[in-house]
Amino acid sequence: MGRGIERLLREGPLDGIFINGENLAGGRGLTSAKMEECYRLGVTAMTSGNHLFDQKEAEGILASDPRLLRPENFPSSCPGSGHRIYTLRSGFRVGLANLIGRTFMAPADCPFAASDRLLSDFEETPDPPDFIAVDIHAEATGEKQALAFHLDGRVDLLYGTHTHVQTNDLTCYPGGTWFVGDVGMTGPRWSIVGSDPISALSKYRTMVPRPFRVAEGETLFCALLVTVDPRVEKEDRFQRCAIRLLREPDGGGS
Ligand SMILES: [Fe+2]
Repeated sequence: MGRGIERLLREGPLDGIFINGENLAGGRGLTSAKMEECYRLGVTAMTSGNHLFDQKEAEGILASDPRLLRPENFPSSCPGSGHRIYTLRSGFRVGLANLIGRTFMAPADCPFAASDRLLSDFEETPDPPDFIAVDIHAEATGEKQALAFHLDGRVDLLYGTHTHVQTNDLTCYPGGTWFVGDVGMTGPRWSIVGSDPISALSKYRTMVPRPFRVAEGETLFCALLVTVDPRVEKEDRFQRCAIRLLREPDGGGS
């Protein structure tokens, strides 16, 4: 990831960097040490997903580090928050939210109702965000597209994560919301959604569980590069926002 960010920085300054960090710790959850590495690279904040609690540290991190979001539609008794406003170096304020899907996923509260609640919260803030981005961490394309229609004209950007496979569907919806089904993974290129292909293929062929191992070798950097022209009215999202979908070789190792 560091090499991809450094390449972008050679093109120009980045006001903020947001990642989904749920698999920072060798493909299973996240740790404070791995998060610190990301902050040193310039990461502003991170969303998460179904692997959030794979490491024991996560509960404590959620309660103490406001740069980590958990899905908003986890139970309200879960520590942390699913949406916050982050002020970037320029003073531009980004409202970032994290939702998790329910189709082919573990049970969670309704992401549609949760999105309504968090948007009300952003609207009622004395100083509302200049830009609202939502990470929908979900398996099913249909559920992500349904959320795109639900949020169309209400948020600036809705982007999918979780499948690890980038989709070629970056679109500005009729109401002005930008949407992409899945940003894709920054991780091993020759892998089965990040896993070593030999052990993952063996499990698929035989049904015998194999130890999970992160694949090694060449890596891919997948990201969205979002440029916002603050001179354009907030409501004119199509003119205000330019987005590039990136999927680039990232060199050897991870
Ligand atoms: Fe996930």
